[in-house]
Formats: sequence, structure tokens, C-alpha cells
Amino acid sequence: MLSATLFLSFAASALAARPFLNEPDTGSVQGASANWLARIDDALAGFAANRTLPPLENIIGLPDFEWAARNVIPIKNYTYYRNGAAGEWSYRNNLEVFSRFRLRPRVMVDITNIENTLNTTILGQNFSAPFYISPCARADYAHPEAEAGLVKAAAAGNILYMPALYAHLNIEEIAAARPENGTTFQQVYLNANDTATAEIFKRAEAAGSKAIVYTADSAADGNRHRALRYGVGSADSSYTPSSWEYYKKLQTMTTLPIIIKGIMTVEDAQLAVDNGAPAIVLSNHGGRQLDGSPSSLEVALEIHEQAPGIFQKIEVYADGGVRYGADALKLLALGVKAVGIGRPMMYANAYGAEGVLHAINILKKELALDAGNMGVADLKKIDASYMKWNSAASNGWYSR
Ligand SMILES: Cc1cc2nc3c(=O)[nH]c(=O)nc-3n(C[C@H](O)[C@H](O)[C@H](O)COP(=O)(O)O)c2cc1C
Repeated sequence: MLSATLFLSFAASALAARPFLNEPDTGSVQGASANWLARIDDALAGFAANRTLPPLENIIGLPDFEWAARNVIPIKNYTYYRNGAAGEWSYRNNLEVFSRFRLRPRVMVDITNIENTLNTTILGQNFSAPFYISPCARADYAHPEAEAGLVKAAAAGNILYMPALYAHLNIEEIAAARPENGTTFQQVYLNANDTATAEIFKRAEAAGSKAIVYTADSAADGNRHRALRYGVGSADSSYTPSSWEYYKKLQTMTTLPIIIKGIMTVEDAQLAVDNGAPAIVLSNHGGRQLDGSPSSLEVALEIHEQAPGIFQKIEVYADGGVRYGADALKLLALGVKAVGIGRPMMYANAYGAEGVLHAINILKKELALDAGNMGVADLKKIDASYMKWNSAASNGWYSR
């Protein structure tokens, strides 16, 4: 009996030593707070008590935005953003997978020009950095300006924004809020109704969208336990038919390139190439659709190992769990051209456009700092040699 009690107390303390953290503990008074829930609360205690947003200069990294937004927006709204499918293991894995891979930093490299090498193109459009705002529905849950905050900040930071079809503002309203220099790719869900599809494509074209992002990873409704507790389920809840023939047909219905979002295997990445897709997004929808689905880093690694030519044949983007510069660099090292950021931008929008721009600037800075410390002189030349890829095999989900 005694030994069972002892075992349980050891097990409990082992778990307590490494809790899963949405927001890592980098702000508590002693580094590792006795109360792990404290995290940045120690540094920003007054704002938590008053349920007010801290000034943006107190927001140091992307995870801080979740803390800030959670303090001020209604719990139901926060839950819609935070939610993952079922037990949320894929949601967690998206965040944790980056820590399972070690960097191989090089030294004695002149990296002083690194900030000037962040710029890139995404399907021929010019941007200041290789990351973009992923399509996320219901931006009004964080701020009354809704998607206007996202589209304005993306333009101010000169990065791509992908508005969601189920955004609070409609396609035309988002286009009207988009500054002159802004670029958007329109995300769509389609249900095989050709008349409705043609109408959406026409509206996206007229609104000046430069591409369509066809989300393919949501064939069925997401099994979302956390969201159901607050009645904030998925905006796209029906069973949706799709096929590669259907994708070919869609290509004849618009002049815009159609990116496929939600690729989770090397087989489907290859099929996308075979069926003429100009670009794909490796994504498990932020772990919101299917618990057990892989992180985009694991999918990128599968492609790197089994069909690396795909990264040259089409443009490959990836999203899910990217919170730090080094996370993005790990995806770029495998050949991913740009990474998408979802939740952090939605939380940042609790501040409106100013907050989203702060998030963009933080990530740009972290990309440059981390690339510099990795000995990458030109971000466009980062490659797989900067990572030790097999270190995760024994430790995580990925195994050969
Ligand atoms: C609140 C929320 C709403 C989303 N809505 C959509 C959507 O309407 N269409 C879509 O393709 N993806 C949607 N996504 C998925 C994102 O585009 C993206 O894949 C995911 O958020 C990336 O993971 P991250 O949040 O960890 O960065 C949504 C994600 C969130 C968090």
C-alpha cells in the first residue's frame, strides 16, 4: 500500500515537472514558478486581475497573445479559437513536435545581412517574410473590427493574408478594408454545388484575390469536445464530397490558381503534383479536425525522405503550432516556402490591427535572430543540413 502511494506521488511529481504549456513559463518570478499556472501572470499580474490587455510593449512573444486575449475575451469566444479535436493530442503535438528536433547551428559565418533576406514570393506575389496569416473564421470573436484588423496589419507588415470563407466580414467587406498594397488569397469550402462554387469564385476574383485556397482536410465535421461544451462548433459541419476529378473541374472554373490546404501524407502531396496543383499547404487544420493527424513538420519530413523533388515541383506551405522563429526555420529547412500562423494572429487581433502588426514584427525579428544564430547568412539558402532529423524517431509520434 505504502509503495503504491509512493509510486503515485513520484508519478505525480514527474508529471508536474513537465506539464503541457500553451504558454511556456518564461515570465514567472523565479523562472520556474511553484505554481506552473502562473507563467507570465507574475510579470503581468495587474492586467490579469483587471481583465485588461497589457500594453503591447509587454507582449514579448507570440504565445503571450493567447494569455492576453484569454483575459479579456468571453470564455466562449476564446474556446472557439483554442479548441482542438477530441483529446487534443494533435493540437499538442503541433506545438511540441518542434522541440523534438535539434538544430545544427553553424559558426564562423557572416550573418549580418540576414534581415535583408527574409523577403520571398508566394505564387509570384512579393512579400517581406516567408510567413502569412492562415485562414481562420470568426475574427469578430476577438475584436469588433473582425477581419479588418487582420487584412490591415498584413498589408502594413507586407505579408500575405488568407481570409476564411466563414469570416465574420464577407469577401467584399474584407476587400474594401484591404489597403492598396495588401494581398489576399481567398480560402473556400465547397460542397459540389457548381452554381454556388462559380459564384464564390466570381466574387473572389472581383474582390482582387490572387489565389483560391481550397480546404480539403475537413471532409467531415471536426470532433471537437472543448468547443461543444460552449456551443461553438465548426462553421463547416456537413459531410463534404470531394475527389481529384472534382479538383480538376474546379481548375476550369476560375482563372485563379487553386492551392490545396490540408495535405497530410506524401501520397496526397504527389497526387496534388500529378493533378496540376500549383501549391499545397501541409496542415492538420491546427489539430481541430482529426485527433491523431500528423503535424505539418512530420508531413514535411515524410516528403523530404520519400519524395523530396515535390518541394521543387510545386510550392509547399505549412501551418500548425508555429510560435517561434526557430519553429518556422525548421519547416523552411525542409523546403517549405512559407509558414502559416493561425491562432496567435486571432489572439493578437484582440488589440485590433496594431496587435496583429506587433505579432508580425515579433516573428520577423525572431526569424532573423534565430537564423543568425544558426549561421544562416541568407534565409533563402537554408536547407535540411541545419537540422538533425532523426532525433525525434524514438521520442515522438514520428517513426520510420
Ligand atoms: C479559430 C480558427 C478558425 C479556423 N477556421 C478555418 C477555416 O475557416 N478554414 C480553414 O481552412 N482553416 C481554418 N482554421 C485552420 C487554420 O487555417 C490553420 O490551419 C491553423 O490555425 C494553424 O494552426 P495554428 O493555429 O496552431 O497556427 C481555423 C483555425 C482556427 C484556430
